[in-house]
Amino acid sequence: MRDIVVSGIRSTGNLHLGNYYGALRNFVKMQEENDCFFFIADLHALTTHPDPAQLHDNVKSILAQYLAAGLDPEKSTIFIQSDVPEISEMYLLMNMHVYIGELERTASFKDKVRKQPENVNAGLLTYPSLMAVDILIHKATKVPVGKDQEQHLELTRRFARRFNNIYGVELFPEPASYNFGSESIKVPGLDGSGKMGKSEGNCIYLIDEDKPLRKKVMKAVTDEGPKEPNSPLSQPIENLFTVMSLVSEPEVVEQYKAAYADCSIRYGDFKKQIAEDILKVTTPMRERYNEIIKDEEYMRKVVKIGAEKARESAAKTLAEVRKIMGFKSF
Ligand code: TRP
Repeated sequence: MRDIVVSGIRSTGNLHLGNYYGALRNFVKMQEENDCFFFIADLHALTTHPDPAQLHDNVKSILAQYLAAGLDPEKSTIFIQSDVPEISEMYLLMNMHVYIGELERTASFKDKVRKQPENVNAGLLTYPSLMAVDILIHKATKVPVGKDQEQHLELTRRFARRFNNIYGVELFPEPASYNFGSESIKVPGLDGSGKMGKSEGNCIYLIDEDKPLRKKVMKAVTDEGPKEPNSPLSQPIENLFTVMSLVSEPEVVEQYKAAYADCSIRYGDFKKQIAEDILKVTTPMRERYNEIIKDEEYMRKVVKIGAEKARESAAKTLAEVRKIMGFKSF
């Protein structure tokens, strides 16, 4: 059976290798077997008061990066959240059945209260209502979410159940999380520590130019080198091998593992190889990105078709919701 899949995409922060191997590559595959809705969550972005002068360019750039990485407007519905006013209307209706207490207890809200105490706005509090509407308005059955979004999906299921119960209907299915299993890979950072992440400042971006990309890889943290044959890998070296196993041919990885084991490895060559193989993955995407971002007409067409398809699906659900809640035309 085909699932209806909805996924919201943050509108800030360029895509990095961690995003690519952790999720994006799976999104590209997911499109083949499911009815997917991918959208840029620009309304959600307002909860942190972005600069109006940058909002549009951020949305445009992120959209172009997703298209460059393989999201396909012929296979999926790709749209901008704010292009679908039905979402905002249903968000108002949904909020009547969402309780302040449960929103205040959400981990993401508590986190924001800590991080931006000067801007604890109502939109921030109701972030989960909006996200639930993003999902329920298309009657999604599956949502690909990372760990940090699981609580939001749990709330979405609760709101769906609650709506169905209050009105004695079976309008909303309860969306399950789309599990990529072993396909979802955590990419380590090149600073020898944890995973690659924007806030860690250790990212290789898909649109990095050759030179700065090579430079970042050459600056990756290593160690003093193996002192005796078959010594165990230190964390930074293990991280580099993890990255290499994602981008390089298996024989190449084996060759460097053997060189490590017999102490003949030279980290300079090792990193050079990794940088070249990363570039083999990212260069085609960066080139497509550079084409797409210039092609205003293409982008306009993509979001127009996306908005039309998304609105058709959203309007259907909204009409049902309005009717169930008692609105009638005179
Ligand atoms: N909150 C999600 C994030 O920060 C983005 C998002 C908004 C989303 N609406 C969604 C994800 C609906 C999945 C489904 O990553």
